[in-house]
Amino acid sequence: MKLGLLTGGGDCPGLNGVIRAAVTQAITAYGDECLGFLDGWRGPLELDYVPLGLAQVQEILPLGGTILGTSRTNAGQPDRIAQIKANLDRLGVDALIPIGGEDTLGAATALAQAGVRCVGVPKTIDNDLSGTDVTFGFTTAVEIATEAVDRVRTTSRSHHRAFIVEVMGRHAGWIALHVGLATSAAAALIPEVPFSVDNVAARVHDLVAARRDAVVVVAEGAVPRSGLVADGPQVVDEFGHVQVGGIAGHLARLIGQRAGVETRSVVLGHVQRGGVPCAFDRVLASRLGTAATEALHRGESGVMVALQGTAITTVPLAEATGTLRTVPPEWLTQYGALFARAGS
Ligand code: F6P
Repeated sequence: MKLGLLTGGGDCPGLNGVIRAAVTQAITAYGDECLGFLDGWRGPLELDYVPLGLAQVQEILPLGGTILGTSRTNAGQPDRIAQIKANLDRLGVDALIPIGGEDTLGAATALAQAGVRCVGVPKTIDNDLSGTDVTFGFTTAVEIATEAVDRVRTTSRSHHRAFIVEVMGRHAGWIALHVGLATSAAAALIPEVPFSVDNVAARVHDLVAARRDAVVVVAEGAVPRSGLVADGPQVVDEFGHVQVGGIAGHLARLIGQRAGVETRSVVLGHVQRGGVPCAFDRVLASRLGTAATEALHRGESGVMVALQGTAITTVPLAEATGTLRTVPPEWLTQYGALFARAGS
């Protein structure tokens, strides 16, 4: 079989582990030929690719980013699907392994429906893909952000300041919630539940008075109940997503005024996506990559490999990309007692 791999959307620790595993399994178990399309869907659209043999995937498991490059090129439109089909035929590629999140796999869904053999691999630090219990990259991002909040906490206490730490999470607050719980932060503010600035300010005020520090974790996509005023023209990608980020600075100003406490902001941004994957993500990426090659050789297509419980399985791509897996709002109330509060 001739397989084409690509990585699309935001990069994520573990992508290289998937590539290594899928290619290694394809070559050693089946004698397949593999190639890697460059920069997401741009590669098959523009016939930009590199050969992938065992030599190319050696030693890439602990490497951050993606050796294939990535982009937010959308391949879901009919003319682009036709172009990709024609290009794959020209190259003699039998099947694709697209590794990506809701957008990349959404395009894979459309390609599979148009007759291209595809087995997708779920990727996103946001952990918001349906059909899988967890995505690789998420655990690494949570580890990085947790360490950062622990560090911010000691300087917060030394100066009796409050801090607002912004983590990624455009539509889903999984990172903010996990980091908030892992650090017993003052609060975790998530996109799923609009928050009251006054309530956060009161909590910050009480915490700083009682124990001299307060760290609030906010997801970049979280919004106050009072709404947000855009402070410039919006940047929108090919999938229609507005670039978010900057809520921490805005919130620090409001909390500082209302709590009467000096409040600073820290935006962790792409630090959460860069660098080496943690061991859990390396193993998950390796299992998913191997499973993608296996699924294609079983004759499956239009599916995504997924982790359910402790088992790797496949789910229909359409099901996985149909709705985002956001944080059920009751999680915040269920674990509300575990966030830092004055007097506990
Ligand atoms: O989708 C993952 C993600 O990390 C989001 O949390 C974030 O909003 C987005 O990517 C940022 O993407 P980019 O690096 O393209 O600005």
